[in-house]
Amino acid sequence: MPRYLTRNCDGSTNAKYEILNSKSETSTNHQSPSVQNLCVCSDAVRRFSMLGVPPNMPSRAHYKLWNCTDSPMNKNKTKVEYLPDASVDAALDAEIRRLLTTCFTKPQDAVFKDRRYFVEPYPHRWVIRDARSAIIAHAGVHEKAVEADGRRFRVGGLAEVCVHPNYRGRGLVKAMVACIDEWLIACGYDFALLFGEPYIYQSSGYVLVNNLVYDEVTPAGEKYKAPEPAMVKELAGIPWPTTQVYLPGPKF
Ligand SMILES: CC(C)(COP(=O)(O)OP(=O)(O)OC[C@H]1O[C@@H](n2cnc3c(N)ncnc32)[C@H](O)[C@@H]1OP(=O)(O)O)[C@@H](O)C(=O)NCCC(=O)NCCS
Repeated sequence: MPRYLTRNCDGSTNAKYEILNSKSETSTNHQSPSVQNLCVCSDAVRRFSMLGVPPNMPSRAHYKLWNCTDSPMNKNKTKVEYLPDASVDAALDAEIRRLLTTCFTKPQDAVFKDRRYFVEPYPHRWVIRDARSAIIAHAGVHEKAVEADGRRFRVGGLAEVCVHPNYRGRGLVKAMVACIDEWLIACGYDFALLFGEPYIYQSSGYVLVNNLVYDEVTPAGEKYKAPEPAMVKELAGIPWPTTQVYLPGPKF
């Protein structure tokens, strides 16, 4: 089992963590040279999974994760909680589906009565709770890849973004997206991608692109590559390709 180093940076129990792979403890703490007195934490792996460190964390990588209250985009310091799909039990599943069913009301959204995803399940999810701990905001994240110019890019695909009607217009989506983007950057993703309304995501740094195609099937069962406008955010300093970008699999 890998061993990790962790430090709670401000002394509180559910706040900012500096996390290093143990192999990098002496040399690669470039982003936070002030970090000192790191200690080995025996339950670090469990805490990492709670914080959202992906299981495929590469060695020698440096992760800096927040509980998302620190992001400058999260102006109200809203607490955004990472909820790995693997941790969702029956009660949580029902609560998530209740929110999705409340927020998404088109005929095709009836799928949420039976499952907590629209097309494909996703491993990552962020939620916001109200004062009574009820989930009032939700966003899922797919682990995806896109291909362009013979290159492959890691993409975090945001899906099922929603806020309970009683809590809209307070910046909750902005807070969640800020948190997710920080996490995707920390995990080495190249782009965040979603299919949604530009006016919701523009102020979070997402731009509309019109060169994406995904796998679609005609009613007769023939496969083809369908174009679809998408919202994209560059996370790793790599510009979004200008040629056609292929997203293998369905739209999410
Ligand atoms: C869309 C939705 C997620 C927005 O949630 P929210 O918490 O109210 O959004 P925020 O307060 O964080 O606002 C984020 C941005 O979207 C804008 N926005 C949100 N709702 C809007 C609306 N109905 N009309 C115009 N702009 C809107 C806000 O002005 C803000 O932009 P700004 O920073 O430029 O001012 C919520 O209304 C919802 O759940 N709708 C039903 C499900 C849905 O459509 N999901 C989105 C799929 S793309």
